[in-house]
Amino acid sequence: MDFLEVIVTRRSIRKYKNDPIPEDKLNKVLEAARIAPSWSNMQCWRYVVVKDNSTKKALADVLPSGNPVKKAFIQAPIIIAGCADPERSGYIDSQRIGDKQWHILDLGISMQQLVLAATNEGLGTCWVCWFSEKAVKDILGVPANIEVVALTPLGYPDEEPKSKRRKSIEEIVYYEQYGHSE
Ligand SMILES: Cc1cc2nc3c(=O)[nH]c(=O)nc-3n(C[C@H](O)[C@H](O)[C@H](O)COP(=O)(O)O)c2cc1C
Repeated sequence: MDFLEVIVTRRSIRKYKNDPIPEDKLNKVLEAARIAPSWSNMQCWRYVVVKDNSTKKALADVLPSGNPVKKAFIQAPIIIAGCADPERSGYIDSQRIGDKQWHILDLGISMQQLVLAATNEGLGTCWVCWFSEKAVKDILGVPANIEVVALTPLGYPDEEPKSKRRKSIEEIVYYEQYGHSE
C-alpha cells in the first residue's frame, strides 16, 4: 500500500477472525516497532506477544466491562502489550529533563509504527489504554519498574468500520501564533 493509503485505511478493529497470523507478517509488524525513533535512541519499549488462549482470556477479563474492545481480546489470535521503562527515556547524563512522560511518547511512536505496519499487512489492531495496569502486569509478569502503556489485539479484521469524523485542518492548525488561523 502507498503510505497515505495505509494511514487512511487504518481503523480501530474490534471484531476479528480467529485465523492465525503467519510468522513473517508478525515479524514485519514487530520490526516496524523496533526501528522507531526514541529519546536518545534509548528504545525504552518492550513488547509482550500473547498467543496463549488462557492468557488472552485473562486479559479480556480484566478490561472494564464498558470497554468495547473486550470481546476482541478473545477473538484475535494475538494480543500485544506495549510496555515502557520510564528510566530509559527523558534523561541526559542521568539528569531528568522536564516532567513530561517521554517514555509514553516513545512507546506511542513505536506502537503506532506497529499499528500502521499491521494495516499494511492486512491486519487489524486497536489501541487499548483503558485497563487496570496492575491486573495486566500481574497476568504478564511485568516487573514493578516497567509500565504497561497500551495493548492491542492483532488479527484479520472481521468488520469494516466506517471512518470516524476528524476535525478540519482549520480547527487544528494555527499559523505563527497559537490561535491564529492565518
Ligand atoms: C491512546 C488511545 C487509547 C485508546 N483506548 C481504547 C480502549 O481502551 N478501547 C477501545 O475500544 N478503543 C480505544 N481507543 C481507540 C479510539 O477509540 C479510536 O482510535 C478513535 O475512536 C478513532 O477511531 P479509529 O481508530 O477507528 O479511527 C484508543 C485510542 C487511543 C489512541
